[in-house]
Amino acid sequence: MTVSSKVRFGVLGCSRVAQKGVLPALRNTQHALLSMVGSRTPEKAKRVAAEFGCDTYGTYDELIHNNNLDAVYISLPHALHEEWSIKALEAGKHVYCEKPAALSYASAQRMVATARKNNVRLIEGLMFRYHPQHAAVRTIIQQGALGDLIRFNGTFCYPRPDNNSILMSSELRGGSLYAAMPHPLAASRMIFAEEPEQVFCHMDFDKKSGVDVQSELWLGYPNGKSATLFSAFGAYFQSTYTVLGTVGSITSKRAYAVPRDRATTIVLDTNDTVTETIIEPADHFALLLDSFCQEISKGSQSTAPYEEDVLAQACILEAAQRSHTQQRVVTLEEIKKENKM
Ligand SMILES: NC(=O)c1ccc[n+]([C@@H]2O[C@H](COP(=O)([O-])OP(=O)(O)OC[C@H]3O[C@@H](n4cnc5c(N)ncnc54)[C@H](OP(=O)(O)O)[C@@H]3O)[C@@H](O)[C@H]2O)c1
Repeated sequence: MTVSSKVRFGVLGCSRVAQKGVLPALRNTQHALLSMVGSRTPEKAKRVAAEFGCDTYGTYDELIHNNNLDAVYISLPHALHEEWSIKALEAGKHVYCEKPAALSYASAQRMVATARKNNVRLIEGLMFRYHPQHAAVRTIIQQGALGDLIRFNGTFCYPRPDNNSILMSSELRGGSLYAAMPHPLAASRMIFAEEPEQVFCHMDFDKKSGVDVQSELWLGYPNGKSATLFSAFGAYFQSTYTVLGTVGSITSKRAYAVPRDRATTIVLDTNDTVTETIIEPADHFALLLDSFCQEISKGSQSTAPYEEDVLAQACILEAAQRSHTQQRVVTLEEIKKENKM
C-alpha cells in the first residue's frame, strides 16, 4: 500500500452488519476500497461481491492470504473473532474486527501482541463513536454546561433475535453482554474520557439457549463518578444515554444504532431550560473506515489508541462476567494483575 492509495479491504463473512453497514459504507469512503468478499459459501461470496461492485471473492483462507489486500473487516460470531483476527494480523493485514473484539483480557492481549509484532493495526468495531453527535455532546460538556460530571446512564436493547441467530448461541458466545453492552460501555469511557476502576454486573439468562438476555452493569469511575448500563434482548428498542452533572444533563436520543439517512437529537437540560439540537444524518461506519485508513497511512506516527481500547473493553467485559459469577465488585486491577505479561 502506498500512502496516496486507498486501503484495500477484504470483508470476511457476509453478515447482516457487513451487508447493511460496512459494505454500503465502503462505497462512501474516500480512503477505503472494497477489494474482496469472503464467505464459507462460494455462491454467497460471489452474490454479495457482485451486489457491492466487487469482482474478487473466495473462502476465508483465500481472503486472508490475498496479497492484494491491506486490511480485513471481520464480522463473524463472537467466538471466532480472536482466531480470524490473529490469522489476518499474522498475514500482515490491518484488522477492523466487530465488537466485542475479544471476550477476555488474555484474548485481547494475544490479539494486540500479534498486531504489534506484525506492525499492523487492530480496531474494534465501535463505529457509533465516529457519529458527529458525540463530538457535539463532548463540546457542550467541555464548555461547562453540565458542571462537574456525576453519572452516565446508557441503554441499548432491541427485540429478541431469532432462536437460530448467532446472538442466541452460547457455543458462539452470543448474549446481550457481548452483543449490545459494548456500545454503552464504550460510550461511558468516551464521555468521561477516563477508565473505570470497579465493575459490578448482574445478568439474566434464557433457559433454553443459555445466553444472557439482560445484563446490567455498574462501573465505578474515579472521583465518585459512575455509569449504569443496561442491555437486553426482547425489550422495546432503546439506544440512548444521559450524562448527569451538577447543574445539567444531556441526552442522546439515538446514540448507538443510527441509520445513515436519519437525523439524531441531543437534548440539553439546564436551569429548567430544555434545548434540542438536531444532528444531521451521518454514516458512522464510513467515518470509522476513513479515520482508520488515515491512521494506517501515518504508520508509526499514528497516536490513535485502537489497541489500548481493545484491551480496555475486554478487561471490563471479563470483570463483568466474573462479577456476575461471584456476585461481587471486581476491580480492573485484579484482572490486569492476573494477566501481567
Ligand atoms: N457495530 C454494530 O453496530 C453491529 C451491529 C450488528 C452486529 N454487530 C456485530 O457483528 C458481528 C456479526 O453480527 P451479525 O448479527 O451481523 O451476524 P450474522 O448476520 O449472523 O453473520 C455472521 C456471519 O459469520 C459467518 N459465520 C462463520 N461461522 C459461522 C457460524 N458457525 N454460524 C453462523 N455464521 C457464521 C457467516 O458468514 P458467511 O456465511 O458469509 O461465512 C455469517 O453471515 C457480531 O460480532 C456482532 O456483535 C455489530
